[in-house]
Amino acid sequence: MTHVTYHKPVLLNEAIRFLVTDPHGIYVDGTLGGGGHSARILKGLSEKGRLYGIDQDDDALRVAAERFAGEDRVSLIRGNFGYMDVLLPKGAAGKLSGILLDLGVSSHQINEPERGFSFQNDGPLDMRMGAMQDLTAATIVNGYEYEELRNLFFEFGEERESPRIARAIIRDRPFETTGQLRESIASVIPERFQNKSLARIFQALRIAVNSELSMLKRALEKGTDLLREEGRFVVITYHSLEDRLCKNYFRYGNFEGKPVKDFYGNDITPLQAVTKKVVTPSPGEVADNPRARSAKLRAAARRASTGNNGGAS
Ligand SMILES: C[S@@+](CC[C@H](N)C(=O)[O-])C[C@H]1O[C@@H](n2cnc3c(N)ncnc32)[C@H](O)[C@@H]1O
Repeated sequence: MTHVTYHKPVLLNEAIRFLVTDPHGIYVDGTLGGGGHSARILKGLSEKGRLYGIDQDDDALRVAAERFAGEDRVSLIRGNFGYMDVLLPKGAAGKLSGILLDLGVSSHQINEPERGFSFQNDGPLDMRMGAMQDLTAATIVNGYEYEELRNLFFEFGEERESPRIARAIIRDRPFETTGQLRESIASVIPERFQNKSLARIFQALRIAVNSELSMLKRALEKGTDLLREEGRFVVITYHSLEDRLCKNYFRYGNFEGKPVKDFYGNDITPLQAVTKKVVTPSPGEVADNPRARSAKLRAAARRASTGNNGGAS
């Protein structure tokens, strides 16, 4: 396995353009993967610049260790980016020039049947991004009550047929493989809608197994505290639940999207949006890399402790 086949980076030029503003700065790539974005961050840094690459997946860390062997500006860290405040050296607080999160799973993770992320392959119902956690997709589909499954599919998959699918799962379980789960779901969904429903249910399970939304929220809050003034937060999302959290946090400093005003009526937010509109891949990039099709990039800069919201959306 090499970085060339591991994962093709998405919105590469755009991400680097918004992220790297100081060649001597300290940067964090919270989703190292195959190191595609990290390699380009390093290209933009001087000898004094520094990069911390975080991933919770041992395969990603192995590939990155090979790719960046002998590169002493890089430190690789095993862990969840939601805990970057704990994982990074204490001295990094308030000093970071940029943090990048390129969310979700890598092509390598999707393509390996034994990781259980894809309904296109048959494999164990695992879906853990890192071996550090216990909860697997099998625990959820075989153990949750009807209401818990239905709510999870509604909330994390935005699937309208959640009640019907939850009932089929209860009827057909226990499951060991993604193939068995796929058959159960397909048995209650008309053929022409099956792929979309399967994608939504697998997304919901993956989000739950990896606590993806709570880790993203924690990373946005803790990461903002780690940035220096004018330091950049760049996030690439792949579905609307993630994008909404970033959009709201970058604009309002909270996840509900509620403006918080100071005494004078100015918005109080820790970040100022840098991307006036969400950035999406060009048709050329999507044709070349279909996994880029749902990508959305947003960037924000850390404000001085007070200031006005520039009103970007
Ligand atoms: C889309 S890939 C990143 C690809 C990378 N930008 C590249 O160019 O190769 C996402 C990676 O982030 C990791 N990841 C996702 N969520 C994470 C989290 N909460 N903490 C640490 N790593 C995470 C996954 O294991 C995966 O390797």
